[in-house]
Amino acid sequence: MRSLDIPQDPHLLVGLATGDDAGVYKISEDLALIQTIDFITPVVDDPFLFGQIAAANALSDVYAMGGEPLMAMNVVCFPTCKLEMEVLEKILAGGLGKVKETGALLVGGHSVDDLELKYGLAVTGAIHPQEVVTNAGARPGDLLFLTKPLGLGIVATAIKGGLASPAVAEEAGSAMASLNREASRQMRKRGVHACTDVTGFGLVGHGLEMAKASGVTLEIELERLPIIEGVLEYSSMGLIPAMAYENQESFRSYVDYVRDPGELEILLYDPQTSGGLLIALPSDKAQGFPWPCIGRVVKGDGRFRVV
Ligand code: CO
Ligand code: CO
Ligand code: CO
Repeated sequence: MRSLDIPQDPHLLVGLATGDDAGVYKISEDLALIQTIDFITPVVDDPFLFGQIAAANALSDVYAMGGEPLMAMNVVCFPTCKLEMEVLEKILAGGLGKVKETGALLVGGHSVDDLELKYGLAVTGAIHPQEVVTNAGARPGDLLFLTKPLGLGIVATAIKGGLASPAVAEEAGSAMASLNREASRQMRKRGVHACTDVTGFGLVGHGLEMAKASGVTLEIELERLPIIEGVLEYSSMGLIPAMAYENQESFRSYVDYVRDPGELEILLYDPQTSGGLLIALPSDKAQGFPWPCIGRVVKGDGRFRVV
């Protein structure tokens, strides 16, 4: 992205420069549009569930900015020579259900014939220009919350290998298919300072984007991390997505380990599909927030500390 000539415009409240979840464009004093797109390859076998997950994943970037989705369009790459149209119908039905759940409207889409199946949404959302939640507002003293368990990439790898137990696959599937809507609404009520959703770059990658954009360091308590039950069994069997190692390679020089993370280390780098929101709340408003507190924001210069 650095090679691009990054556009500047007074209407553009959030653009390419800060690696945030979506673009935000101010239309008037009380309305800004949020624009985002996301599409993915299958992470589960069931096409209806995959449609739900891909849609929840795409809609999440609107919730991460503190907004509400207005409209969505399907983005489809489908191998017509390999798969029945019935599969596509189920995927689209799963996605449509999620769009409806948000209250947004599905208004169209586009598909191409492709060797590998991919599905997702382009989403337009709305927000008040003064209430945009970026990844740049975290302050020392804030408490950090994570709204979905880690290990979704490892479970997806176990599912692909045919080795995931039905119970674990179901827990991961329902976590991925669930919307970040309620967490987004709750954080706004509590005067959230910063938020991002945890997706392909894992907790460390997206946490570092927040730390750098905010000019702080994130301190994470290993023992407080929510993880999918049974996931360590799969990671110990080597069922770890390649991207977890790529993330580790890219980000490990920004991570300080105060204690040995042991077998939990790989979870910090595990790429999440439709992961939870990482939320920085002012500590005086964080009491009783209904998701796990995983650490705090401290003074620093864009690092990630594991204690
Ligand atoms: Co995002
Ligand atoms: Co995204
Ligand atoms: Co078209």
